[in-house]
Amino acid sequence: MKTLSTRTDTFTDSVIRRMTRVSLEYNAVNLSQGFPDFDPPKQITDRLAQIAPEGPHQYALTWGAQNFREALAKKQKHFSGMDIDPNTEIVVTCGSTEAMMASMMSVCNPGDKVVVFSPFYENYGADAILSGAQPIYVPLVPPRFDFDADVLEEAMKQPDVKALILCNPSNPCGKVFTYEELKVIADLAIKYDLYVITDEVYEHIVYAPHKHVYMASLPGMRERTIICSSLSKTYSITGWRLGYVIANPDIIDRVKKVHDFLTVGAAAPLMEAALVGLEFDDSYYQELQAHYTHMRDLFTDGLRDIGLTFTNPQGAYYVMVDIGEFGYQNDEEFCIDLAREVGVGAVPGSSFFREDVNNLIRLHFAKKDDTLKAALDNLSGIWKLKK
Ligand SMILES: Cc1ncc(COP(=O)(O)O)c(C=O)c1O
Repeated sequence: MKTLSTRTDTFTDSVIRRMTRVSLEYNAVNLSQGFPDFDPPKQITDRLAQIAPEGPHQYALTWGAQNFREALAKKQKHFSGMDIDPNTEIVVTCGSTEAMMASMMSVCNPGDKVVVFSPFYENYGADAILSGAQPIYVPLVPPRFDFDADVLEEAMKQPDVKALILCNPSNPCGKVFTYEELKVIADLAIKYDLYVITDEVYEHIVYAPHKHVYMASLPGMRERTIICSSLSKTYSITGWRLGYVIANPDIIDRVKKVHDFLTVGAAAPLMEAALVGLEFDDSYYQELQAHYTHMRDLFTDGLRDIGLTFTNPQGAYYVMVDIGEFGYQNDEEFCIDLAREVGVGAVPGSSFFREDVNNLIRLHFAKKDDTLKAALDNLSGIWKLKK
């Protein structure tokens, strides 16, 4: 048989999903793959039940149902202050995952480079490979996950750099970029004429006093920022695969075409049902923040009581725990032992870093109180792994 594609030859299976399989094998509490085990808002699921017999059941407009895009433009205006034309500046996609892929394919030629902060969400590497671009990594240095502006400029000014990918709030490190940090990035993007492709799926999961600032709202950034985000995390509907790209009409015109050939469109009945979520008032987002703050506090208080060292997230729903003192050389081996002997599923930190970092594991806390308490109960036995 002829060989399969060289472009995808270097793909490994996702470490996160591998760790989910390990958790299942050892019946561990799975805190590896980041999705909630609690229900979406009842109004959304009630609406889904209501439209099941009515539809829509056929293709929506390829770039998303009109009412959904209009509601999205209104919501985005409310939170970011940006005026967005729902007809020319939005494409609805199958999750932020497709939004990122379609954006990268719309922007990059083979041989182009994209700047990515490390640690990074693992899909960005694959997005770069599939779109023919080569990633250049700029460290966010633990434990504060700051970046050095000179190192960033060195990366951004290299020939053939086309774009920077910005995950804000960040998975896995929980960093929420300040206005000042975004301004540094924005000024360099303007200076070197780069696009900024943002991944803002955690835009509504931010812990006080931190605040999410939209890169596109900074002076001069509206025209060169490609916003990718989704409803997955905001409305606890990761399985519905509803995301979107927001950008200027020239970019969106191209993204519409790429998206059409990639997937045709997002699921019509799910757009119709999720519409009620886009129309929620501020109280929904306040309750979401309060709920996540509760889960974060429950989980991090427990980790502290157990005596673990970890990074307290500013946003998103992940904690990086320092396993340096356990004496393991290999963090994946640690995660397998953690699932088997302690009963908790985690992700080895090395899968997120370009640099040689082996002393961190990632746990997520978007879980019911009972699940978090069970995980903490099991984690209290973690010291038996110390060599
Ligand atoms: C940073 C980041 N981007 C994108 C996604 C996937 O988002 P979606 O479900 O919208 O495809 C995730 C899921 O964990 C994520 O953490």
